[in-house]
Amino acid sequence: MDRTYRILCVDDEDFTLDLLETLLAPLGHEVVTALNGKNALGVLADKTIDLVLLDINMPDMDGYEVCRRIKTDSQTKHIPVIMITSMDSRETKLKGIEAGAEEFLTKPLDQAELLLRVKNILNARDYEDAFTYLIHSLARAAEANDIDTGNHILRVGEYSAMIAGELGMPEKFIETIRLQATLHDVGKVHIPSHILKKDGRLTGAEMEEMKKHSAFGAMIIGDHPRLAFGKRIALSHHEKWDGSGYPAGLKSEAIPLEARIVAIADCYDALRNSRIYKPNYDHQGAFRIITEGDIRVEPAHFDPKILEIFKRLAPRFEEMYKKMTDKK
Ligand SMILES: [Fe+2]
Repeated sequence: MDRTYRILCVDDEDFTLDLLETLLAPLGHEVVTALNGKNALGVLADKTIDLVLLDINMPDMDGYEVCRRIKTDSQTKHIPVIMITSMDSRETKLKGIEAGAEEFLTKPLDQAELLLRVKNILNARDYEDAFTYLIHSLARAAEANDIDTGNHILRVGEYSAMIAGELGMPEKFIETIRLQATLHDVGKVHIPSHILKKDGRLTGAEMEEMKKHSAFGAMIIGDHPRLAFGKRIALSHHEKWDGSGYPAGLKSEAIPLEARIVAIADCYDALRNSRIYKPNYDHQGAFRIITEGDIRVEPAHFDPKILEIFKRLAPRFEEMYKKMTDKK
């Protein structure tokens, strides 16, 4: 491992905390300790933590409860948790897994096992971070020739996650759409910059060229199974519910759900965003165009169920736009 991690160790026994610190600090990790659940949650609210080692049996708030709280808070749920228990029973593990723990260790601690598990879990976390980072890099690369769109790609990810949450989709779907929706326009890297940056309406031929970004995007993302979701979004985010979209003219539920979600998220943000060739709209303006239509946008373009959700979530869209827009 070539970076330092901050590891939070939680145990009501000083002895165990000392042992953990003695083992982990020489590896270059920063060890933060807490003697009870309440303090642990305080540390997590305060500091960036890479891994939690958590005792189960503690007075007041036990390890299961601490773990549940870590895993239900959007700020901390990505932090891996290794539970430490003195009871090596199936029931204990099941309860821990239910609370969201990733790994288990049994007391008395086997030092070699502890170090291996910590190393493995931190490595896995590193790969996940790098994966997220590279997706964002790729998405940013595709924006290089486009008009400055601020945080457009990240906002589209956030709105899409909000809609997916409201649709009651599983956590995995929500996290995947948040990340992979950022790739929706990656195919623009193949579109000539004089079209992307054109000051004025596109001609018919230019529009046809622009429309190719969907298929280009799918081609760039390729066939890795972990990116299948992003590929479907790139290919189908300009399909319309009434069948008037491109590239395939798919209709209603033939359009993948993730692409139907991104379509409305992308449309809202494009309307809000200042573009050279059209005015940017305030929240009310963008809301009105999506729900009532204008010369280019029709409510019939969107999945009616998702359109209803958009109406319900509109104030949160406005909030998210404000929060994630660079002030110039
Ligand atoms: Fe697009």
